[in-house]
Amino acid sequence: MGDSKGIFLNSPLLKSIGDLSAFKDKGEYGILGAVVVGMLIPVLLSALFMGKKRIKVRGVQAEVGGEAGYTVRNARKNELVEVPWKGATTVAALFEQSCKKYSQNQFLGTRKLIGKEVVTSKDGRQFEKLHLGEYEWQTYGEVFHCVCNFSSGLVKFGHDVDSRAAIFSDTRPEWLIALQGCFRQNITVVTIYASLGEDALVHSLNETQVSTLICDSKQLRKLDSISSRLTSVQNIIYFEDDGETKDTASGSLSKWAVASFSEVEKLGKESPINASLPSKGEIAVIMYTSGSTGLPKGVMITHGNIVATTAAVMTVIPKLGSKDVYLAYLPLAHVFEMAAESVVSAAGCAIGYGSAPTLTDTSNKIKKGTKGDVSALKPTILTAVPAILDRVRDGVLKKVEEKGGLAKNLFETAYKRRLAAVRGSWFGAWGLEKILWDAFVFKRIRSVLGGKIRFMLCGGAPLSGESQQFIKICMGAPIGQGYGLTETFAGAAFSEWDDNTVGRVGPPLPCCYIKLVSWEQGGYMTSDKPMPRGEIVVGGFSVTSGYFKNQEKTDEVYKVDEKGMRWFYSGDIGLFHQDGCLEIIDRKKDIVKLQHGEYISLGKVEAALSSSSYVGNIMVYADPLHNYCVALIVPSRQALEGWAQKAGIGDKDFRELCGKSETVSEVQQSLSKVAKAAKLDKFETPAKIKLLPDPWTPESGLVTAAFKIKREQLKAKFKDELHKLYG
Ligand SMILES: *[C@@H]1O[C@H](CO)[C@@H](O)[C@H](O)[C@H]1NC(C)=O
Ligand SMILES: *[C@@H]1O[C@H](CO)[C@@H](O)[C@H](O)[C@H]1NC(C)=O
Ligand SMILES: *[C@@H]1O[C@H](CO)[C@@H](O)[C@H](O)[C@H]1NC(C)=O
Ligand SMILES: *[C@@H]1O[C@H](CO)[C@@H](O)[C@H](O)[C@H]1NC(C)=O
Repeated sequence: MGDSKGIFLNSPLLKSIGDLSAFKDKGEYGILGAVVVGMLIPVLLSALFMGKKRIKVRGVQAEVGGEAGYTVRNARKNELVEVPWKGATTVAALFEQSCKKYSQNQFLGTRKLIGKEVVTSKDGRQFEKLHLGEYEWQTYGEVFHCVCNFSSGLVKFGHDVDSRAAIFSDTRPEWLIALQGCFRQNITVVTIYASLGEDALVHSLNETQVSTLICDSKQLRKLDSISSRLTSVQNIIYFEDDGETKDTASGSLSKWAVASFSEVEKLGKESPINASLPSKGEIAVIMYTSGSTGLPKGVMITHGNIVATTAAVMTVIPKLGSKDVYLAYLPLAHVFEMAAESVVSAAGCAIGYGSAPTLTDTSNKIKKGTKGDVSALKPTILTAVPAILDRVRDGVLKKVEEKGGLAKNLFETAYKRRLAAVRGSWFGAWGLEKILWDAFVFKRIRSVLGGKIRFMLCGGAPLSGESQQFIKICMGAPIGQGYGLTETFAGAAFSEWDDNTVGRVGPPLPCCYIKLVSWEQGGYMTSDKPMPRGEIVVGGFSVTSGYFKNQEKTDEVYKVDEKGMRWFYSGDIGLFHQDGCLEIIDRKKDIVKLQHGEYISLGKVEAALSSSSYVGNIMVYADPLHNYCVALIVPSRQALEGWAQKAGIGDKDFRELCGKSETVSEVQQSLSKVAKAAKLDKFETPAKIKLLPDPWTPESGLVTAAFKIKREQLKAKFKDELHKLYG
């Protein structure tokens, strides 16, 4: 999936997740346990091979309108689902009905700040450590009151209901309350990822002519420097932080009407006004996502889109209900988190708010000896993106390695046995053996995430099969892997809980069809054997209205068929397995046709070459006017300096080292070797390379916050270097 669809994560988030590994040290795994398990293995082995492998059909072919292709719908529903239940046709209606239905249940939970301290590390750096209390809850009924009060207060405060409001803040309960408050007055909400930067913020607020900006106090402090460029903004509402006093008189803030969230709530309480509810076709959210070139684009999401995805995902998570506890910590400005919170609030679950740097007991900002968010909340449902799950896996493996000895052997045996069972048979997967391994080996690992997780939702980018199996086995919870884009409000395909295969994203969600359309130039055809392949096109209720003020781009990738159904052309290439499950295999943009007609998939080549130890980051580039490709490489400093020392090149400056021809030829040899191992063709092996000493960081705009390369930006920045490589 491209940059515009990848989830944005702040690098501190990833760093703190690394700490997940530090599961509590309670001594070695019980020796007794090992013995018991060891004796039982032969008995259980026989049970293991009794089960038969059955193929469950999850998606079936469907007749639809529009362009010819191979279309599949969810096998459980004959017709597309549009709403979670009758009458819930808008987000506002769904929310109100849910709040009435579950009025006494716990809904939104937060932790009060008990204490703050600054510790200085050995190298002199200072870290803020927080001591946070237990979760304190508001019920669905209470939250609904807050929403009504905020909604009235917003109008009373002076927001013109015919103009838009924007929310620009970290994930927290007030975010959801403000969002729902706006919906009750039929106000469209603009959202922007915090990591997109100032220019993107100014652009999106101006393009949508936002008059009220709702933000947290952290963002409030940043507004000073851009205030002169925010020409449409008139009102600012900010979320207060525990233990912080407001300082709004300073600087340019005086040019706006500024109020705190609670002041607005109070205004509304004093002078309530009637709701003015939207209808299903109205735009609920304009969500800005990074474009592959230049400025971000705003996707117009209707109320109908949101309730459709919500309805569909609710059918996929088994037994979702008011006993479930969900931990919210990913950015709400991303479609994946917004969809997830919509689903769990429609099902009456409790939502506890947390943040990446306070997630676990050993996270950066958690004071030693106090609880992280997962330990305090013990969630049953968690969302994650692949980058996070990869970190969890690496962390656990590292810890196991450190322990060594019996613990390591036991872990490895347990893991192998579970893997074989999960792959092999139904009985093996759920039998007595599983119970034993869980009790003696995996229980401790699970406590890292609170110990109660029963379902994980994963999306944003493809998860590697390895990580998927690992998390599933170690955490003991199925992972639903989703494929969705902002343009389809996250709703496209979703893997089912009982599907033990890896690398696939499941059948279409019941709110939409997925059609593969042949892409002749790229060599992907629906007539391909053994499985149909083509560009992934999504049609149905979750398909959004298009890009704000960008009819040209909208017409390029959205089409309405003769029956009135909207289809979105994703640019991703997929194939359908026999059971109706989708697998993402390539991306249109990343495939280049070379001079002699061969096709080169840049992503595939990059993935293969990354296994060279010298490669820190890589972008492969292919000019269609030549018959070979080239590559820009940020070398791994450690590996390269290690080699240089051995080769006697010694204590050279790293920059100089990258420029030396011996270095380039060493790296190139290594690339040839891994290319051969990965069975790449000659034209797929870079003929020339350039080593770049400076790392590509999210701050430089060359990679996304999830460290995916941004091809267009890299091409622009290193235009001259690329030109020279072909020279
Ligand atoms: C804001 O948008 C208007 C058009 O809607 C444009 O004329 C103006 O230059 C923009 N201002 C900024 C600061 O981008
Ligand atoms: C909101 O207003 C209602 C009255 O309309 C009041 O009962 C309630 O306590 C208020 N809630 C908050 C959180 O201000
Ligand atoms: C609000 O709605 C109620 C009932 O629908 C109505 O009686 C009342 O006049 C309305 N108030 C305003 C200020 O429109
Ligand atoms: C909601 O707002 C939109 C645009 O701002 C407007 O066209 C529509 O008529 C409104 N809907 C209702 C039900 O008031």
